[in-house]
Amino acid sequence: MNTQTFNPGEAATEVSTVAVVGLGYIGLPTAAILAGKGLHVIGVDVNPDTVQAVNEGRVPFIEPDLGVHVAGAVSQGHLTAQESMPEADAYIVAVPTPFRDDKTADLVYVEQAARSIAARIRPGNLVILESTSPPGTTRRMADVILDLRPDLSAAAGSDRDRVLFAHCPERVLPGRIMIELVTNDRIIGGLTLEAATAAAGLYSTFCQGRIHLTDAATAEMAKLVENAYRDVNIAFANELSVISGNLGIDVWNLIELANYHPRVNILQPGPGVGGHCIAVDPWFIVSADPENSRLIRTAREVNDAKPGHVIAEVKTAVEGIEAPVIAALGLAFKANIDDTRESPAVEIVRRLALENPRARILVGRSFPGAKLPDELSPLPNVSSVVTNDAVAAADAVVLLVDHDAFREIRPEQLAGKAVIDTRGFWRTTA
Ligand SMILES: NC(=O)c1ccc[n+]([C@@H]2O[C@H](COP(=O)([O-])OP(=O)(O)OC[C@H]3O[C@@H](n4cnc5c(N)ncnc54)[C@H](O)[C@@H]3O)[C@@H](O)[C@H]2O)c1
Repeated sequence: MNTQTFNPGEAATEVSTVAVVGLGYIGLPTAAILAGKGLHVIGVDVNPDTVQAVNEGRVPFIEPDLGVHVAGAVSQGHLTAQESMPEADAYIVAVPTPFRDDKTADLVYVEQAARSIAARIRPGNLVILESTSPPGTTRRMADVILDLRPDLSAAAGSDRDRVLFAHCPERVLPGRIMIELVTNDRIIGGLTLEAATAAAGLYSTFCQGRIHLTDAATAEMAKLVENAYRDVNIAFANELSVISGNLGIDVWNLIELANYHPRVNILQPGPGVGGHCIAVDPWFIVSADPENSRLIRTAREVNDAKPGHVIAEVKTAVEGIEAPVIAALGLAFKANIDDTRESPAVEIVRRLALENPRARILVGRSFPGAKLPDELSPLPNVSSVVTNDAVAAADAVVLLVDHDAFREIRPEQLAGKAVIDTRGFWRTTA
């Protein structure tokens, strides 16, 4: 199917009831936005606490502005939640797609959701996969449903009663989800053009960005490629930081100077790459075609190796100190959020603590009341303290996340200490 831009005037949605399957960071905002447009939305989640929270108009995680949308939609009766799969005109699947130890995608949640939908789906219904998925997953989800429902078909022009399948990947930024859900462009890939167009009709009820129609596998790949693009470019910066360190060159000044070239735009290095998207999604491409994904795999390996380089730097800085105190500033996978999923900062602190049992690692708190994540809380030589106290007690200070809160640290607080600045936070300009 050739890519084309959807014209909202062409296909008004015939959907009035939507089941959103998976009420997490993606599913719940989508459910709330659709409900705010007057559709009847039924949220489905296997977690009874989540179902209860939503029915009480509460949000079980932190996302700006989401609470107001959920509370409003529930109080107006447009949004309800339940554990069982209802009948609906359209199903939007936003369940987790983690990777296994061998870096292949674990599609068990998508398959579970598909089996539940198969029991309730009716001719003419639309099923949209929003979960980030390897190419072919929308087809696989359709096969799970159609194997259980041989009375239905996804094929265009089929004699049997038709159902429509599409993929609509999500690229919102946590912290700005309620804005970007509305303003971002969307890519919608259908198993048929009719399916893509029907899904676009539904999304056009709230999406103000352009909607680009394509086939399902291209839409699946587009999401993975966006994150692999970021990963490869960050890997280039991270590789430069290691090479520059070995050559005695300041990588921040180096990149600033190179970026004066009108067609060069090197990203900033860091302690590695974290989060549940950029550190995960490129592996779905690698597992789809291992032989030919050499650059993408190498980028993942370069980024995954970066914490090891930071650890080596810290160890060198405290060499000769019998029981060193190390202040580790920040644990999140990026600045000014509290999400530590796949965070290289957590990995660095964990390995430093395990490999140096005599060292004390003081994690400087950037958020009031922030607790240590599960990977760190059992370690006896890691504790969470107020940032200024961590810095004051430290022999070495390692800046892992560029949280704005750390701007309050004054240069004299760092005097006489070894400083490992993985983000160029305290750098001087070229
Ligand atoms: N969070 C993001 O910023 C983001 C951005 C883009 C894409 N994505 C993708 O969106 C998908 C969902 O991510 P998320 O962050 O919303 O996950 P999440 O873990 O926050 O939420 C998933 C929800 O699905 C529920 N669930 C699991 N299996 C279920 C089933 N069979 N039936 C009903 N509910 C089920 C879980 O209980 C949970 O509440 C993933 O594929 C992710 O990669 C996430």
